Amino acid sequence: MAGVADAPGTLSAGPLLDVQDLHLDFGGIKAVDGLSFSAHDGDILSVIGPNGAGKTSAFNCITGFYKPTGGKVLVEGNDITGARPSAIAARGVSRTFQNLRLFGELTVLDNVRAGMHMRMKQNAFDALLHTPRFRRSERQATEEANHWLDFVGLRGDRGGPARNLPYGEQRRVEIARALALGPRLLLLDEPAAGLNHGEKLELLDLLRRISALGTALVLIEHDMGLVMQVSRRIVVLNFGKQIADGTPEEVRRNPAVLEAYLGKDEESHADETEVPHD
Ligand SMILES: Nc1ncnc2c1ncn2[C@@H]1O[C@H](COP(=O)(O)OP(=O)(O)O)[C@@H](O)[C@H]1O
Ligand SMILES: [Mg+2]
Repeated sequence: MAGVADAPGTLSAGPLLDVQDLHLDFGGIKAVDGLSFSAHDGDILSVIGPNGAGKTSAFNCITGFYKPTGGKVLVEGNDITGARPSAIAARGVSRTFQNLRLFGELTVLDNVRAGMHMRMKQNAFDALLHTPRFRRSERQATEEANHWLDFVGLRGDRGGPARNLPYGEQRRVEIARALALGPRLLLLDEPAAGLNHGEKLELLDLLRRISALGTALVLIEHDMGLVMQVSRRIVVLNFGKQIADGTPEEVRRNPAVLEAYLGKDEESHADETEVPHD
């Protein structure tokens, strides 16, 4: 199947990301139980669902951190199911984590440069001897890192340790690091978690600017106001099962979605941006 899309001289007509009937079992727990969706260049999709629904597990399968127990993941028609995270990243798939994974002791700039080194051609001799080529590529890496930190709107000190930044700023650094990989597809796991209202509005703007670069976005997010405003399509998971897939308008009206959300987790959703009911 992949061979058709990969014929020499033709552009792959298929989706950038194609998730087909994904399954992940942990012993008896069906963490992901039949998830299918696809994303195209510049798309913004959201995966929503109550806590424990299998959203992060699905991301972990797509990015190679977990090996799915069933189904397929294709990137530009290439089957990457069960491939290593580095191999999947090399295909232009980048991600952030629900719990921040910055190197707290490293400077902010170094955290972003660390993302970039994966795709830069350097050899040990160049690095050891600080050859002109090495210095040139280091200078270029710093420029690029600064560019992405500007892009995400980082205000704090870039030369100091990442852990000294306030939480919202650290989340921006993580997105900058993911962008520095030059992804075609970026997966964001709860990017608005812990952000204040102003920061959420800035995030909304940032997501739209990332999409305008042609990078497809798939986000896991609990803030329904943000999800409804930014998403082209929404996939809904509940107990690992996909219970809905549609436009924000379709999903908002879907009885199965209302049932999964209503009367459940009410308190933890109370502080969120209001969802319009109609
Ligand atoms: N490493 C793991 N080992 C065993 N069970 C796990 C593991 N990771 C997640 N789970 C279980 O899989 C289900 C889905 O979890 P998760 O994907 O984190 O949900 P979500 O991100 O939607 O909140 C939960 O029941 C969770 O306890
Ligand atoms: Mg999660």
